[in-house]
Amino acid sequence: MKIKTKDLLTLAELNSKEFLGLIDDSIKLKKELKNKGNKPVLKNKTLTMIFQKPSTRTRVSFETGMFQLGGHAINLSSDDTQLSRGESVEDTAKTLSRYTDCIMARVYEHELLEKLSKYSTVPVINGLSDTFHPCQILADFMTIKEKKKKFKGLKIAWIGDGNNVCNSMIYGAALSGVSMSIATPKGFEPDKNVLKESKKLTDLELTTDPFVATKNADIVVSDTFSSIHNRDPKRMKKFLPKYQVNSKLMNNATKNAIFMHCLPAKRNQEVTSSVIDGNQSVVWDEAENRLHTQKALLAALIHA
Ligand code: CP
Ligand code: NVA
Repeated sequence: MKIKTKDLLTLAELNSKEFLGLIDDSIKLKKELKNKGNKPVLKNKTLTMIFQKPSTRTRVSFETGMFQLGGHAINLSSDDTQLSRGESVEDTAKTLSRYTDCIMARVYEHELLEKLSKYSTVPVINGLSDTFHPCQILADFMTIKEKKKKFKGLKIAWIGDGNNVCNSMIYGAALSGVSMSIATPKGFEPDKNVLKESKKLTDLELTTDPFVATKNADIVVSDTFSSIHNRDPKRMKKFLPKYQVNSKLMNNATKNAIFMHCLPAKRNQEVTSSVIDGNQSVVWDEAENRLHTQKALLAALIHA
């Protein structure tokens, strides 16, 4: 899929055709890998990964993805770089652009990614910031396509914190025409600008009632109540028990509803073990699909 953007920081850089095209490419790459392996379309290309925050899936799926496409990934925690000793983001971006073909960064402040994008001449991918997690949503919509075979007419219920993953999921819903109902406690709603932009493209509902959100929902989604950047233990009181996805809440959705979670999960906080380990849960496919969607994205962003 040819995409126009140099970087992927939020998902708003993509139009609907590009978003859906990347998902179709990901499904093809998954089949190709399982048949005879992927073609080395990124031979001799390198990806530099910078992590300010911990990661299991993002780290391993990007590194494996580069390897499977014939390229190589270099992993740096931000403490390993001169950023930790005060070298500017601008100088770091310019330097890395002379060695590597793409930069993926997991950061606290989203503005750091915007700076990297401004000063690097190679593509920059957001591997999660406090505000967005676009790579997760590519994988989530690939998983929805695999399980439901379509996007038209579907409804997502987001339950819990209106966080970085939720913001990106709203963009994903807008790009695919899926409707979304978001149940959060007051004060934990998703980003206002994301909502405002996306409302023009799809039906979005905000509620404080998880039972309103899950009514007629085809997909029920939760995420941790305490994101890496937001670990105040007092937050729990706002979410529990009302915003826990349990069997009763799943039974309020459609009969064939699927349960999604980006992981890592805190069992028996945002989701009960019986739901995440139950037969409606697709969380392991979702995790696997990070690999396939990121390969499609890398192949689209890194030009020969
Ligand atoms: N879902 C996700 O991004 O997982 P990691 O934090 O393990 O990378
Ligand atoms: N919302 C979570 C997602 C982790 C993949 C966080 O930011 O910690």
